[in-house]
Amino acid sequence: MELDVKTKPFSRDWWKEFRKSTGNMSFPVTRKNIFNNDVSELRDSIFEKFQNLKYEKELLAWRVWCDGEISTDLEKRIVEDPMKNETDFLPWCKRIFGDKTFGIILNDGQRYSKKTRDLISKYFEPLLDNKPPLGGINFSIFMGNYGWTPIGIHQDHTGSFVMHFHLGPGSKQMYMWEQSHYKDKLNGRENEMNTEPYLPFTSYDYSFDDGDIFFMPWNFYHVGRSQEISIGLTVWFNYTTVDGLFNGVYSSGVKDVISDIDDPTLEEIVQLKNYKGCENDGQLENLLQSIDIDVLNSTFCEFMEDQLQDYTNALISNDWYDRGTIKDKFELDYDINEKQKVSLIISPIRFAKHKDVLKIFHRADKIDLAYHDDIVKLIERINERKTDTVGNLIDSLFVDWPEGIGMRILEIFIENCVLQIEK
Ligand SMILES: [Fe+2]
Repeated sequence: MELDVKTKPFSRDWWKEFRKSTGNMSFPVTRKNIFNNDVSELRDSIFEKFQNLKYEKELLAWRVWCDGEISTDLEKRIVEDPMKNETDFLPWCKRIFGDKTFGIILNDGQRYSKKTRDLISKYFEPLLDNKPPLGGINFSIFMGNYGWTPIGIHQDHTGSFVMHFHLGPGSKQMYMWEQSHYKDKLNGRENEMNTEPYLPFTSYDYSFDDGDIFFMPWNFYHVGRSQEISIGLTVWFNYTTVDGLFNGVYSSGVKDVISDIDDPTLEEIVQLKNYKGCENDGQLENLLQSIDIDVLNSTFCEFMEDQLQDYTNALISNDWYDRGTIKDKFELDYDINEKQKVSLIISPIRFAKHKDVLKIFHRADKIDLAYHDDIVKLIERINERKTDTVGNLIDSLFVDWPEGIGMRILEIFIENCVLQIEK
């Protein structure tokens, strides 16, 4: 279904109409020529992502197919020789894949380019105003001329809503079936690779070109088809289930609490997966001794409430993206001085007081410091001024503390990529 809306794309009114026209985001739609002016900038930002892959290597969440087969050798070649720019894109495809068909699905794309994040965040600001996704936002990039989606007809994970920004140059087709229709009437399976017999029975099928958007909620079975080389940037809004949210928050909270222990058996015990490690003398005692006394004295509800607050603060500190952008860990090889100018990187610093601890959230990371009013004043100055000299930021703060404490706190912020030194 194409929407007939005359308002400016991504404005508050446009989103209002969009929600209405999609039955409050309950069925798929496509809209033509929505972001044509931003296509080349978005493509550039995708190429920037590929140039940043070298910083992650083994940590990359991606799959590369060549003529329908998964290829780890080509993953290495792509990391070593990414496309340079728009002009290099099609020659690059030839250089890496020759005349073969290929497909790349790169997950966690929000981590590799701040530029893409900034462009996309701008579009969704009015929509997320009152209903942000508690499971976070992330990007997946689809690239290639792979024909049918290499994972066949499938359903996305529960609670996800996907907006596809098509960046061309080739077009893409998407075929969709309502859940009950596909499963009960057509007897369809998850990851069905033999797509042809199901095509005459689709509930929706759309074709889109560069500048078009395509939206789909999680409960539709679907398969895409890309016969010409194209790039699709998919933005995922994860409205997780209560179970999913609590399980995720519980297990990351437990990992946080026992992070000092490098013993997988103990981790299994705590995750309630395996009791057998308890039989070894002293292991459980070691575990309990390593846990902060405040945690041991708290009730389960208090523990969960604390973890949920940390989780939400971390997401908000990162504009609701579930993971931060990659960081060039800053090794401080000289002392900063009072005249040095420093500036805030990306978003404001969030903080929360919890007992004697000041929790600081930035770009989805958390730093714990012993609470002091002057640290809060310092953070407020940084958030307000965005950029200033070290001397001005710590002026008249930390006067009763040992000398150099203010500087040290700023160094911690620099080491954790909260602040950067202005050259
Ligand atoms: Fe999918």
